[in-house]
Amino acid sequence: MTSHLLDAYVWEGLLTFRLTDKISILKTSIQVLMEHKKVKGRTLTREEKLSLYRDGYVVVKKAVSDELVDAARYRINNAEKGTYPGAHEDLTNLVNASDVTPVLHEAMGYFDPPIACQVGVLRPRKPGEYFNNVGYKDKGMPYFGAESHMDGLCTIGVPQEVVEGTPEEIYYRYISSGPKGDIGRSADVMGHNSVPLFEDPAMTLGMGSFTTFAFVCLNDQTREGCGQTALLRGAHHETEKFFRWQYEVNGHIGPEGPGWPRLDYDCENHCGLVYLPQMVRDKFIDDTSDSSPDGMKWPRPTQILMEPGDACLTLFNMPHSATRNEFGTENRTNIIFRIRNKKRQPNHMVSGVSDHPDRGQRGEWLEYEEGNDPWLRSKFALCNMWDEWEGMQDIVTEMEGQERVPYEV
Ligand SMILES: [Fe+2]
Repeated sequence: MTSHLLDAYVWEGLLTFRLTDKISILKTSIQVLMEHKKVKGRTLTREEKLSLYRDGYVVVKKAVSDELVDAARYRINNAEKGTYPGAHEDLTNLVNASDVTPVLHEAMGYFDPPIACQVGVLRPRKPGEYFNNVGYKDKGMPYFGAESHMDGLCTIGVPQEVVEGTPEEIYYRYISSGPKGDIGRSADVMGHNSVPLFEDPAMTLGMGSFTTFAFVCLNDQTREGCGQTALLRGAHHETEKFFRWQYEVNGHIGPEGPGWPRLDYDCENHCGLVYLPQMVRDKFIDDTSDSSPDGMKWPRPTQILMEPGDACLTLFNMPHSATRNEFGTENRTNIIFRIRNKKRQPNHMVSGVSDHPDRGQRGEWLEYEEGNDPWLRSKFALCNMWDEWEGMQDIVTEMEGQERVPYEV
């Protein structure tokens, strides 16, 4: 399912989901929210925290009980017609009633209990003929078609034929082909994935952000090539450095900021998204990197091998991608939660599915009280990726040899 269809499906589902169930989930969420009580329970071991620091992710084995896994699988397979299972508590319980909550409460901090999630089902399939979001034929992309990116990036469907024109012409045609049509270049332009072109009216922040991804695995993913989520191990350190450099240059962060053009005009269709800035890519490319047919080398991601009930936690700053389920015999099923530490915006509730929570799900402008600059807070978080990981501070200090001095934005 393409991301924009998924988005429409999520929100249609949220609207049509049984009202009584919605109210009960909301009541529980509001109750916990009012108390901001951290759930005590399982925590990451020192080794797990060290690996989260070093690699940018950690797999928490058996974070979710078999009963919760079975209930979620049942709900997905027996979803009522016209409803989206990702808003059902059988799915949100994968975080709200599992070890994921106490683990994150301790390592990261308090967060809104998710009321929705992304049901990441990938059917087995062969390499495709279509142009992917980075402007290359899927069949020619190495590493099972991985398109490593960070979230919160506006994605308008890329042209499915080779386009011609100057970069300016191609850029303008591209941003005019989104769901709102030709409205000029502004923060009101939306992607088919419902992410705005820029988060802020001044167009200085080109991406949404949150604190952590939690991917809960619901099927056997212990063998590569079965649609696993793939991560660029260790790249969170480089993306944080890159954001600081961007901010240093002119205060702009994300695509269309320094060193990060939005579009790649040299790719196969001449209009692909630059999902990862070249300065970051370069750090992960060497002689062993595989290439697309044009000779372009791509950073090799790590396929995250998991069993049902395992959960992978990553920092937002971690480049990641779904991959092709080429060798699988069943649907790859990962349930994806996007979680933000409550301290970023204590007065705003996040759903657990949005990757741009400083705006509404469909780009609506939200109200912020006097003195609360959401764009600045998010730039700070992108440049200080451990700031929202309250239980990681000792490890960060130990690994970096000194307490971190905040990078001021
Ligand atoms: Fe993503």
